[in-house]
This record gives sequence, C-alpha cells and structure tokens, in this order.
Amino acid sequence: TPVALLLSGRGSNATALIRACEDPDFPARICLVISNNPDAPGLDMARSAGLPVKAIDHRLFKKDREAHERAIDTCLRESGAEAVCLAGYMRLLTPFLTQAWAGKMLNIHPSLLPSFPGLHTHERALEAGVRLHGCTVHLVTEGMDEGPILGQAAVPVLPTDTPEILGARVLRQEHQLYPTVLRHFLDKSAASCQAEAALLVG
Ligand code: GRF
Repeated sequence: TPVALLLSGRGSNATALIRACEDPDFPARICLVISNNPDAPGLDMARSAGLPVKAIDHRLFKKDREAHERAIDTCLRESGAEAVCLAGYMRLLTPFLTQAWAGKMLNIHPSLLPSFPGLHTHERALEAGVRLHGCTVHLVTEGMDEGPILGQAAVPVLPTDTPEILGARVLRQEHQLYPTVLRHFLDKSAASCQAEAALLVG
C-alpha cells in the first residue's frame, strides 16, 4: 500500500517507518515524504533513503492554512498515497485535510491519550505524578489528538526521571509502536485494528 509521510523536524518516527518498509513483508511502501519545513532534518534523511520528498513551506501561503493544505493534498493525490502518517508534523490541520483523508490518516502522539494532548507531554506527565506514560497512534480527526485510538505503548515513570529521560524512553516505544500499528491498520480494517489495540500495549 502506498503511504505518504508528513513531518516537520527530526524525523525519527519517519525513519522507523521507512526502515519497517524495507522489509518486503511489510504491507506499506513510502511513496512520498512531505515537510512544511524545508530545513527539516527528516527531509534530508528521507532524501538520503532515496525516497521522493517535497518541501511545502507553509510560510509561502501567508496565513491561508487551507491553501497550504490544498497544495499538500494535491501532492498526496499525485503520489498515489492511500494512507498518510503524520510523523512529527507540527501544524494543526484544518477540516479540509482531515476530512479529505478521514479514516486514512494516522498520527503518533507522545502520551497515553486522552491524557496530555498537545505539547510538552513529558513535563506535564511528570508534573501530574502519573506512574505510567507512553505513546498513542490514533486516526486523525478534526480535534487535535482526539481521533480513535489504534494502539498504545506504556512505559513506567521513574522517580529520577527528567522530561528528557522520560521522553527518550517514550520515543523508543514510539519507534516500535508506529510500524506495528501501521501494519495492523493496513492488513486489517481500522475497526479491527482498534479491537486489537489492547494487544499492542506494552
Ligand atoms: C514525536 O514525539 C511524536 O510523537 C510527536 O512529535 C515527535 C516527533 O519526533 N508527534 P520525530 O520527528 O519523529 O523524531
């Protein structure tokens, strides 16, 4: 299945997905990597991996978010993508793009949703004193970090944790979880993927 990636920065989750796709038994191949940030290290990484890449700089669209998303959507359609994975894509989407890709767009978020949507999740988890933290792959809907949960991985929060140490522990799980969930998602329907979400915990 052709899958496109959207990223804005470092691209470590994109790297994990690209690596997973190198396995001939994995049900996805990456047909395009798009970044809104032309300087994203993740874009260089994808280019070095020999993948088609495109920078679609949101700053060139002034404040017209939907025009930016129309440009993204056009590229996604041209690439033949049948699903889209947000991998550290740091812009809020308008209903235009979420509706255009409803049921076919996945995101990874560094917390156990519905706890800690938004930014600075590791700091907030430490402040809240939770003993379990983790990451979530979910379908993208209009509300930020709100779509149906497809899979989660949990990690312990240790007394000596800093946001950086905890974040690194979560990130290692992200790199396992995202390819695992994408494989389930493509092999099965979103519904049965959700039904199996519990199996992915841990
Ligand atoms: C990850 O923590 C991801 O969960 C969040 O943004 C971060 C992106 O990191 N959505 P990377 O670019 O994949 O390294």
